[in-house]
Amino acid sequence: MKILVTGGAGYIGSHTLVELLRAGHQVVVFDNLSNSSVVALERVAKISVGGITFFKGDLCSPADLHQVFSQHAIDAVIHFAGLKAVGESVEKPLLYYLNNVAGTANLCQTMVEAGVRMLVFSSSATVYGDPRSLPLREDAPTGATNPYGRTKLFIEEMLRDLAGSDAAWRIAILRYFNPIGAHPSGLIGENPRGIPNNLFPFITQVAIGQRPSLSVFGNDYPTVDGTGVRDYIHVVDLARGHVCALERLATYAGVLTINLGTGQGYSVLQMIQAFRHVSGRDIPYQIVARRAGDIASCYADPSLARQELGWQAEYGLEEMCRDGWNWQRHNPKGYVESN
Ligand code: NAD
Ligand code: UFG
Repeated sequence: MKILVTGGAGYIGSHTLVELLRAGHQVVVFDNLSNSSVVALERVAKISVGGITFFKGDLCSPADLHQVFSQHAIDAVIHFAGLKAVGESVEKPLLYYLNNVAGTANLCQTMVEAGVRMLVFSSSATVYGDPRSLPLREDAPTGATNPYGRTKLFIEEMLRDLAGSDAAWRIAILRYFNPIGAHPSGLIGENPRGIPNNLFPFITQVAIGQRPSLSVFGNDYPTVDGTGVRDYIHVVDLARGHVCALERLATYAGVLTINLGTGQGYSVLQMIQAFRHVSGRDIPYQIVARRAGDIASCYADPSLARQELGWQAEYGLEEMCRDGWNWQRHNPKGYVESN
């Protein structure tokens, strides 16, 4: 199939391109490069067979969307493009609603006009808010705690309304848990701009000496050692999940909402320990106050993904740390654009 990948130059998108090309699909990337680099696409090309077509465009521009759909006979869309920084979304909620929600509405409108009705959407475990019980099944109550999370919830609802309006839609809503790590080649990986918001890229930057130490946000949660517990998932496993979802949509009409996680939670201190073991580097840290809005624990019940998609995570924490560290060591400054 010919797949339009919005946000394809980004972290999860670039890894998904590799898996799509491996599965024999053709890919067209639509990205405004607001949080990514074309170097990622050049690197994907190095580890893949098959070409990537790149269209620099913005979801907020219906003209850009029309142009890409008129230039290419798209069969399905995988929609990664969006802004994802929780703190920034609190400061600039309208930016998030315009870019993520309105941008997705523009995309869907263009899909309707182009007669394309197959969509895989990047949602997040953040839609579960503060979980009442664990592990999280897809039918658990939702309720996001910040504007970013609400953009995911609103888009999910919009997509369900769309499917309700026209039975031709086939939509997979994938709720990711915590993607980390990198492609084992070390050629593509996460490339945060500025100070990382998330735990894993912060740890790798401490390990490489770019930051002196890690702040652990609270050790008084009701968890194994008091630090926050999350379901970390190798980005390559996550990427494979998208190919499985596309295949499933070939025979599924309506909306399929699925967790992509491992089902296993690890605490911050367990993560530090695993990373030290794999990298041989010390990770100095200090315990500081809890981060506002954080929850104690979050991990998936991944059984629906197994049943519906025939997918399950294959990599464990050690491989996540190994591949993430390999990427950081070989690309200490991330993607460097030559011009
Ligand atoms: P990323 O920032 O690396 O990738 C997103 C891409 O979208 C970037 O390349 C960016 O340039 C592009 N983009 C943003 N706004 C755009 C617009 N208006 N038009 C065109 N392109 C635009 O992020 P990622 O980690 O790869 O995340 C991909 C998706 O998965 C996002 O929707 C994110 O919310 C979701 N998600 C990510 C995580 C995570 O922890 N990384 C967890 C759950 C869900
Ligand atoms: N943490 C620290 N120090 C840091 C960063 C994080 O101790 O410098 C802790 C957090 O308190 C939490 C754990 O590490 O206990 C994981 O934090 P992340 O920021 O890496 O991940 P979150 O689970 O808070 O959130 C991430 C994304 C959300 C997304 C969610 C689920 O930021 O947007 O995963 O996919 F919704």
